[in-house]
Amino acid sequence: MKKLLMLVFGIVVLFLIIYIPFFADKDSASGNENEEYEYEYYYNDSSNGGEIMDETQSQTVSGDMSAPGIDVNPDSYTVFVNKEYGLPEDYVPDDLMVPDIRFYGGFSEEKSYMRKDAGLALEKMFSDAEKEGMILYGISGYRSYERQKEIYSKNVTMHGSTETNKVSAEPGHSEHQTGLTIDISIAELTGSLLEEFGNTEEGIWVKENCSKYGYIIRYPKNKEKVTGYSYEPWHLRYVGPEMAEYLTENKLTLEEYFNYIPISAYTDSIISDVQIIP
Ligand code: DAL
Ligand code: ZN
Repeated sequence: MKKLLMLVFGIVVLFLIIYIPFFADKDSASGNENEEYEYEYYYNDSSNGGEIMDETQSQTVSGDMSAPGIDVNPDSYTVFVNKEYGLPEDYVPDDLMVPDIRFYGGFSEEKSYMRKDAGLALEKMFSDAEKEGMILYGISGYRSYERQKEIYSKNVTMHGSTETNKVSAEPGHSEHQTGLTIDISIAELTGSLLEEFGNTEEGIWVKENCSKYGYIIRYPKNKEKVTGYSYEPWHLRYVGPEMAEYLTENKLTLEEYFNYIPISAYTDSIISDVQIIP
């Protein structure tokens, strides 16, 4: 009998030795699972939050269109570039392509590039214009920091900095460096960038339609004191269709959208009548 009790006791002890760690493991595993789940949830939540923030600042604007703060992300379609807000000297967009459009004077390695989405939208805009009998030409798209430096310096040498600053951006402060901007013209104006473009059939069509393709006229007439630049009906800036339509419907510049106030007010005489390379 004593032997039998010893045997039962032994079996019970053996059972406990084998199964207690198993239950303990299971508990701790499910504990980890919960932890992981919560962590994963938190992580996803936080990462989604981050993406939404990035997108709000960067690529899209949704819901109410109130500005989330000045967009300083160079890769963003809504990046704010002006006399005060610049791009890093070494910033080069990583998705440059050559849009399939007409370039006045033909393709030029230096200035025919655009960022992909901006380039594709431009192709569509130009081909729709053509369907309505209007032939548009690309003149100057992407410009490197160095290229803008050459242009700006040449302008200053020829016309002095006061006149230059009404039309030409300092290196690092030109939207052309974003790859989201292009100057356009027509054969009738021999591809020149002139205010007259705004009064041509093509210029009027572009002004009325460019927002559908995600573009805005970045330096509109009568907003010189807001943008700090002369009227440039030829300078198109891609911001994406949603933002472009919002700005156009509300007649807003990016300065107004971002509630930007210049450090010192731009002077009354921003309108330039000298031929500066814009
Ligand atoms: N003409 C515009 C302001 C530029 O130089 O980027
Ligand atoms: Zn331009």
